[in-house]
Amino acid sequence: MPIDAPAEVIANHALSTDYNVLALAAPAIAAAAAPGQFVMVKAAFGHDPLLRRPFSVFEVLRDDRGTPTGISLLNKRIGVSTDLLYAARPGQRVACLGPLGRSFTVVDPPTEGWMVAGGVGLAPFVALAEALGTRGVASTLFYGARRAEELFYLDVFRRLGVELVLTTEDGSLGERGRVVAPLERRLAARAADRPVMIYACGPEGMLAATATTAARFGRPCQVSVERIMACGLGGCYSCVVPMRHGHGGFHHVRSCIAGPVLPGDQILWE
Ligand code: FES
Repeated sequence: MPIDAPAEVIANHALSTDYNVLALAAPAIAAAAAPGQFVMVKAAFGHDPLLRRPFSVFEVLRDDRGTPTGISLLNKRIGVSTDLLYAARPGQRVACLGPLGRSFTVVDPPTEGWMVAGGVGLAPFVALAEALGTRGVASTLFYGARRAEELFYLDVFRRLGVELVLTTEDGSLGERGRVVAPLERRLAARAADRPVMIYACGPEGMLAATATTAARFGRPCQVSVERIMACGLGGCYSCVVPMRHGHGGFHHVRSCIAGPVLPGDQILWE
């Protein structure tokens, strides 16, 4: 069962003028969260904003003994709620419901884990990289953003032993262009008998390109879809995703309960 609790802001670390990492005291949610799951957060307790907003669990925070104490969220300012979370002060409380949804399936060696992140789609991958590392899985992060200043937490991934493949749209760090290009080259060069699981999170176009590319090379791909989520609990149908169903048919699933992690080759991409 998800936990619904007011969570105190422990820290708020601005990464740029648009992005911040908000640390919340939420030990029960932290203890239960699996990589790829999300929480519904409401930045204020009044009527504005009215609705909660979904956030992937970015980090599980632990004390010196390794006991989960809270979670952090990677926030990007795009509206009223995210502006409030960007400006949140330590000591303030936010409404936090979770963990929700289906997590990534964490593979075991010799399968490698290749994570593909675009922009704020980095959010589920610190937790996933930790889980892969715990199992001894070799992992790579293909991470793209508009410019170098928007590639965050690189040292954290390096410390976790993750190989980094970086791209920026302006060429200011890593390869210039889209993140799927180096992924495609790696897949083309990889021997068929060396298994790999691809995990993706980011803009819809990037997810579609990643899933399509993975399928072309016969590799499994789990994508974390971003949808408007009004309830996060399956009650409002604001979050539906069209999926293949039967012979040539399709049906809609609610990404808040069937996902947010879904098999990329089953989604009907627009
Ligand atoms: Fe309400 Fe998914 S967010 S049904």
